[in-house]
Amino acid sequence: MIPGPRAHIDLSALEHNFQISRRHTPNARQIVVIKANGYGHGMVQVAQALHDADAFAVARLAEAIYLREAGITKPVLLLEGVLDIEELQLAQRHQIDLVVHCLEQVNLLIQATGSAINVWLKVDTGMHRLGLNPANVSKAFQELTSCEIVNKPVRLMTHLANADDRQDNLSQQQCDTFKKTCVDLTSEHSIANSAGILGWPTSHTEWVRPGIMLYGSSPFVNDTAANWDLHPVMTLSTSLIAVQDYKKGDAIGYGGSWNCPEDMRVGVAAIGYGDGYPRHASNGAPVLINDQRCEVVGRVSMDMICIDLRNSPGASVGDTVVLWGKGLPAEEVANRAGTITYELFCRLTSRVKFTYQN
Ligand SMILES: Cc1ncc(COP(=O)(O)O)c(C=O)c1O
Repeated sequence: MIPGPRAHIDLSALEHNFQISRRHTPNARQIVVIKANGYGHGMVQVAQALHDADAFAVARLAEAIYLREAGITKPVLLLEGVLDIEELQLAQRHQIDLVVHCLEQVNLLIQATGSAINVWLKVDTGMHRLGLNPANVSKAFQELTSCEIVNKPVRLMTHLANADDRQDNLSQQQCDTFKKTCVDLTSEHSIANSAGILGWPTSHTEWVRPGIMLYGSSPFVNDTAANWDLHPVMTLSTSLIAVQDYKKGDAIGYGGSWNCPEDMRVGVAAIGYGDGYPRHASNGAPVLINDQRCEVVGRVSMDMICIDLRNSPGASVGDTVVLWGKGLPAEEVANRAGTITYELFCRLTSRVKFTYQN
């Protein structure tokens, strides 16, 4: 049987990338970010593979509970926190650590009873998404510290808005604002995401929060993972299901958006936007067939892409087509599709078959 779209997850590459994070921040504890199903790689499999992670971070309560139900016992940090008493009680029951990013959440904790919980107070130092205004941090910190159900110390965190751009001084300013805001508050701190870990040493504090770098992708714009010795974790591939001969001028696929420049062979591979392959990768995205680089031609359709086979003349039905991963950096495909690797990885659908290798 000719296999369809499949994502091969190399867990030894994941571990390797984790060690790169450690090497850059040897004194920090690592909160491994595995929200959105481990950036599409499989949240539980990633959590189980990274034995040395100090904690995991997810965005939603359901993700955190899913980890607990899968038997993950390490600290799990809920990056969006909880918004009502019902959610708080679930977090308490499952021993989930909470980000507190607004005054409503502070008040919720002040009024709550029950089992003790770890809390990270989030400071908005310039991202302007979640977090308390620095002017309100000291009071909220004291209130949380006096809270019956809150373990001490209340920890402090912020998030960098533009750390992927190493020329932008905003990251340095955010670190300065954070340190100034926290100077009189005895606590532990966390600033750095992947870009902070690799590119902004001033963001290195007691805790760091690596995400995309662990999955083998550079966090920086116009950069590749190889520059940081990061190894791709996911290799997405499929098979050729047809090879056709066309004449010069023949139009390929929906809308006929690409015409054969000469008599040539075109391959059809079983993957499309219904599998999560980006439709914006039409006309020009690279693929690998038998280690030869070829290009997507015509529009990406729901289940198929067409490929210019002039670089791989021996290609035949059943051959493997690599969409990204080993030998073909996902950053390149993301650039071509006008997106980022985070989105490529997260968007794969349930039609893609996942396999894991230690
Ligand atoms: C609060 C927070 N910390 C850390 C991360 C990890 O970021 P990255 O994947 O860029 O390392 C994220 C991801 O979006 C985040 O939202």
